[in-house]
Amino acid sequence: MKTPDISKIKDKLLFTPGPLTTAQSVKEAALSDLGSRDSVFIAHVQQIREKLLALAHVGAPEYEAVIMQGSGTFGIESAISSAIPSNGMLLNIINGAYGRRISQIARIHSIPLIELIYDENQLPDLEEIESVLSGSEQITHVAVIHGETTTGLLNPIEEIGKLTARYNKVFIVDAMSTFGAYDIDQKELNISYLISSSNKCIEGIPGFSYVLAKGSELQKCKGRARTLSLDLYDQWAGLNSNGQFRFTPPVQSLLAFHEALIQLEKEGGVNGRAERYSVNNALLVGEMKELGFELYLPANIRSYIITSFLYPVHTDFSFEKFYSALNEKGFVIYPGKLSKVDCFRIGNIGQLFPHDIQKLVDAIESVLFELKIELAEL
Ligand SMILES: Cc1ncc(COP(=O)(O)O)c(C=O)c1O
Repeated sequence: MKTPDISKIKDKLLFTPGPLTTAQSVKEAALSDLGSRDSVFIAHVQQIREKLLALAHVGAPEYEAVIMQGSGTFGIESAISSAIPSNGMLLNIINGAYGRRISQIARIHSIPLIELIYDENQLPDLEEIESVLSGSEQITHVAVIHGETTTGLLNPIEEIGKLTARYNKVFIVDAMSTFGAYDIDQKELNISYLISSSNKCIEGIPGFSYVLAKGSELQKCKGRARTLSLDLYDQWAGLNSNGQFRFTPPVQSLLAFHEALIQLEKEGGVNGRAERYSVNNALLVGEMKELGFELYLPANIRSYIITSFLYPVHTDFSFEKFYSALNEKGFVIYPGKLSKVDCFRIGNIGQLFPHDIQKLVDAIESVLFELKIELAEL
């Protein structure tokens, strides 16, 4: 099959959890051939690391930003497989697919693991967490997902952070889909490892993840890693000694991210971005309800990042047809990832504005009409 000429195809709007619709200036920043040992590149990387820490309200050397090649999962696997010693134990708090992925990583690396598993529309039970922590000396680390992108649920990392501090556990937070759009004070929340990636709320392009690590914990990772390429300590030691990566870095993705951070500052930082995403989300939810769609999660546990909508109760509804018709109109939505319920997801992060949300909702209305799907009045 001949591949289509991408330069002739108009970009679609991505209503997904990433990769996202990005700013023109971010795309353009990637259009340079720079050597990975070029002093300009090294200065960009250093600035990125400093700015990431500042976004989490911390600074070096008390905390260190370690950039890891690969997607978000590589950063998570790097932290989990480097931080927990063979005589340690991970308590993993799970209410979605990304929580389950952390357990999968722990098992692959034979890391002792205890799981607290909740339904995908349920917050973790803080009393149960406390009783597990108070009853087990063996648990050394606790992991949780901040924004469970499986559903759009927001987990209470403040409260869990307090428990980890009270029981002296190392706290690992996957903030993949929230960092940059939710204000997270890493030290205040007792987070030793905070992980996110380039193509989420900072609105860069894919290529790397980053781990913001408490310096004193990072030092303990020396010699603990179970892989070469995902060795968090060695990656940091390399970056720290001469600003260079141990292995080929995603240069263009890092240059784009540097620009994305400038754009974030121009938007008013995390608060400005949170404001736009909240407005996008409120509009999306309001208009979708107006069309007759029902939401999977109640409002009090939902984030303003991505929203799960139940499939309409209609014999003729097919997600594939719905998805394809929207895709042809230039709107990309996302399938569900739930184990028990049929849902689809719509993200409202990236370079999306209220007028884009309105265009999507209008397109959904006309697709429903074309597919002859009438939704019940709510
Ligand atoms: C909360 C969370 N964790 C982990 C990941 C995995 O990231 P990646 O697909 O970039 O490996 C994602 C991806 O959307 C996510 O939302």
